[in-house]
Amino acid sequence: MFGLFNRPELELDTSGNVPMVDICELDLVYENGHQALHQVNLQIQKGEFVFLVGTTGSGKSSLLKLLYRELRPSSGNVLVGGLDLGDLARNEVPYLRRSVGVIFQDFRLLGNKTAAENVAYALEITGTAKRKIPSRVAQVLELVGLSDKAKRLPSQLSGGEQQRVAIARSLVNQPSLLLADEPTGNLDPDSTWDIMQILSRVQNAGTTVVVATHNQQVVDLMRKRVLVMKRGHLVHDLARGAYRLDGRGSGLHVDQPSTPFSAVEL
Ligand SMILES: Nc1ncnc2c1ncn2[C@@H]1O[C@H](COP(=O)(O)OP(=O)(O)OP(=O)(O)O)[C@@H](O)[C@H]1O
Ligand SMILES: [Mg+2]
Repeated sequence: MFGLFNRPELELDTSGNVPMVDICELDLVYENGHQALHQVNLQIQKGEFVFLVGTTGSGKSSLLKLLYRELRPSSGNVLVGGLDLGDLARNEVPYLRRSVGVIFQDFRLLGNKTAAENVAYALEITGTAKRKIPSRVAQVLELVGLSDKAKRLPSQLSGGEQQRVAIARSLVNQPSLLLADEPTGNLDPDSTWDIMQILSRVQNAGTTVVVATHNQQVVDLMRKRVLVMKRGHLVHDLARGAYRLDGRGSGLHVDQPSTPFSAVEL
């Protein structure tokens, strides 16, 4: 079982000597001929927290899919921890998924498994020794504040709790990179803030975090690096950014918030 995962050439370089994400002259053209990404160049360093924003269809999910090797670049390079994902064969993707955690707007939990079983499953499929699984599961469920609900099925949990299970599942293999595609898209403001605090703690523990979101208030409050996409182009890269969408539909405008943080209600 262990031999299956013993592929040192597929290990990410997490020393910090290479960027965690290194994207160079990336184009993505879908099979139907639609070009979703144009000449994207981007570096994200180990331990950063980055928001990816932009109007619908601007290419956020496409970019994330390239980072977990759901898609391959049409041209250009996508490197994660020095590993060129364009070279990765489909059957090598599980190696990457140990180091790159992913969470989605719709949680994607297995409905017939409890919270603990959903998390354990991520360890089972990466070949973790059985005896190590219960303590690792307990540890991450505690991290997301769900120790007391470990035995519940997803249908017995709120949306925010389900997302916390999904985060626990994404973290249980101790990934170097955590990707989140609109993780709070289905959640109320309180749960949204809970999830963002958890993601912030994940960053503080050393994991690189990339979050695609439409939630302007979250971006404005957290003051992290913000990447702005527009029609497949990366148009802004702000060190401690904020954004607002122009209600008149003339596109995305980058701004510094004029509202004091304490006055913004999530
Ligand atoms: N499988 C596909 N085949 C063809 N075109 C696609 C495919 N998936 C996405 N697209 C197109 O690529 C563009 C970028 O889509 P993407 O899903 O990356 O946008 P997004 O920024 O995540 O949008 P949203 O905010 O709505 O989630 C859109 O024009 C979309 O219609
Ligand atoms: Mg999307």
